[in-house]
Amino acid sequence: MAASPMLNASPLLQLLRSVCVLLLAASATVSGRHHTAPPAASRTGQSMYLAPNCRAHTASLADFGGVGDGTTSNTAAFRSAVDHLSQYSGEGGGGAMLYVPAGKWLTGPFNLTSHFTLFLHSDAVILGSQDISEWPIIDPLPSYGRGRDKIGGRYASLIGGSNLTDVAITGNNGTIDGQGALWWSKFKSNKLKYTRGYLIEVLWSDTVFISNVTLLNSPAWNIHPVYSRNIVVQGVTILAPTRSPNTDGINPDSCSHVRIEDCYIVSGDDCVAIKSGWDEYGIAVGMPSEHIVVRRLTCVSPTSAVIALGSEMSGGIRDVRAEDIAAVDSESGVRIKTAVGRGAYVRDVFVRRMTLERMKWVFWMTGNYKSHPDDKFDPSAVPVVEGISYQDVVATGVYKAAARLEGIQGAPFRGICLANVTAELDKSKKYPWTCTDVEGVSANVTPAPCEALQQGDVGGDGACPFPTDTLPIDQLTLQQCAYDVPPTSPGAGGGN
Ligand SMILES: *[C@@H]1O[C@H](CO)[C@@H](O)[C@H](O)[C@H]1NC(C)=O
Ligand SMILES: *[C@@H]1O[C@H](CO)[C@@H](O)[C@H](O)[C@H]1NC(C)=O
Ligand SMILES: *[C@@H]1O[C@H](CO)[C@@H](O)[C@H](O)[C@H]1NC(C)=O
Ligand SMILES: *[C@@H]1O[C@H](CO)[C@@H](O)[C@H](O)[C@H]1NC(C)=O
Ligand SMILES: *[C@@H]1O[C@H](CO)[C@@H](O)[C@H](O)[C@H]1NC(C)=O
Repeated sequence: MAASPMLNASPLLQLLRSVCVLLLAASATVSGRHHTAPPAASRTGQSMYLAPNCRAHTASLADFGGVGDGTTSNTAAFRSAVDHLSQYSGEGGGGAMLYVPAGKWLTGPFNLTSHFTLFLHSDAVILGSQDISEWPIIDPLPSYGRGRDKIGGRYASLIGGSNLTDVAITGNNGTIDGQGALWWSKFKSNKLKYTRGYLIEVLWSDTVFISNVTLLNSPAWNIHPVYSRNIVVQGVTILAPTRSPNTDGINPDSCSHVRIEDCYIVSGDDCVAIKSGWDEYGIAVGMPSEHIVVRRLTCVSPTSAVIALGSEMSGGIRDVRAEDIAAVDSESGVRIKTAVGRGAYVRDVFVRRMTLERMKWVFWMTGNYKSHPDDKFDPSAVPVVEGISYQDVVATGVYKAAARLEGIQGAPFRGICLANVTAELDKSKKYPWTCTDVEGVSANVTPAPCEALQQGDVGGDGACPFPTDTLPIDQLTLQQCAYDVPPTSPGAGGGN
């Protein structure tokens, strides 16, 4: 492979750089021995960030012909940068970081590589190309059998990757702006031949860390890890207009060991949606979403849920924990959506400490979500929903009803537990609870729940179950990583 573009820097700079690396290594050892020592002191031009792994090599997008003027396409620059840096992605290669400097970097879709960090400067904005011919058409997901919007293929996601290990997307809160308005209007007027792309999608990947970035205006879903494990999304801001179609925030799909925390999401759909494939296609792939924790999420989603489970759940969804969830203006809290034909299950869902303001429904479950990939679904594939706990919920300004719970006839949703719940709603609402084909227990719920949810004692301490163990993904540790800010090349266009 060709030498790194970084090596074009003056020999003096190189020397300085290696001296600093040595000094840093020394101080890291020292602070490792004396735990009270502060992190390695940063000098001019050196910055720090947190990630599961640090990288031995760094290059700037500007070194690959990138032009940050907001109008020049950088698709080739991003692709050749990742291509070049993939030489370090092998065993013992040390990994690489691609630094995106201040500027506006217009691009079509590109893929990431393993042992790789995409780092965004605080004034870096990656802009999604408005030239649809720049967006490749890729195969539908096997667990969906087709594109979600349209039968057949789908547009690639802006930032993609398959079969990756150890990837980070982070920075000083730089921005990835999908410029989705073009896609939303084409979608609404039915002018798209294929399903819209997402902002970030990884398939078949392990250890993906997304933190400290702002995502704007995705064409559709924002973050979509699928068939993957060990995913952390932390300190991410996601913003889309509240009427933009399907701009879900974070959608783990057939993924295990996922941690979503400290995120702020404004969405035209669900803030978080946990999925696992669609009807017969999802059943055939059979990959559940499990061992997922969502905490300290703040959500605005007037047309959909704070956290949705489904409606595509045909690989199963289990062991989901959500805590310290705040929402202002949403349709429902933690919502379950499924249908006959989906098969599989949604079980062991634990929710505690939700503060909800201005809600249509506090609780919403549907066993008759009418959306199927085609008419080949198996009518005997009846999903099982059981073991769903909600504890310590305060909702104010509930404008429709406390709950709308609709299970499946002959296959009721069982083991629902509600404890310490207050829903403050308009006194004119005569039927605060609608319950059909559901069974469960409750304690200290105001207004008093439907009889179907008063079928026994919650438990000795008046609390619903919540696991006491921690998930392995909570033990993923982060390193302090240092890097030298690559010199700005003339092509970078500055931070204006
Ligand atoms: C990205 O990866 C996907 C799946 O492996 C592939 O179909 C697509 O062509 C790749 N895109 C680019 C721009 O290389
Ligand atoms: C990625 O991994 C999946 C599952 O192991 C495999 O089916 C697929 O062929 C792999 N794709 C590539 C591009 O290596
Ligand atoms: C996130 O970005 C902010 C703003 O630049 C920075 O101060 C902070 O250190 C970053 N946090 C992490 C964990 O990297
Ligand atoms: C990141 O930027 C967004 C949008 O400007 C802002 O709302 C958010 O508070 C910032 N987050 C951090 C950690 O600086
Ligand atoms: C009930 O929930 C509220 C709100 O989360 C909390 O402040 C309070 O401590 C809970 N009460 C009990 C008895 O757990």
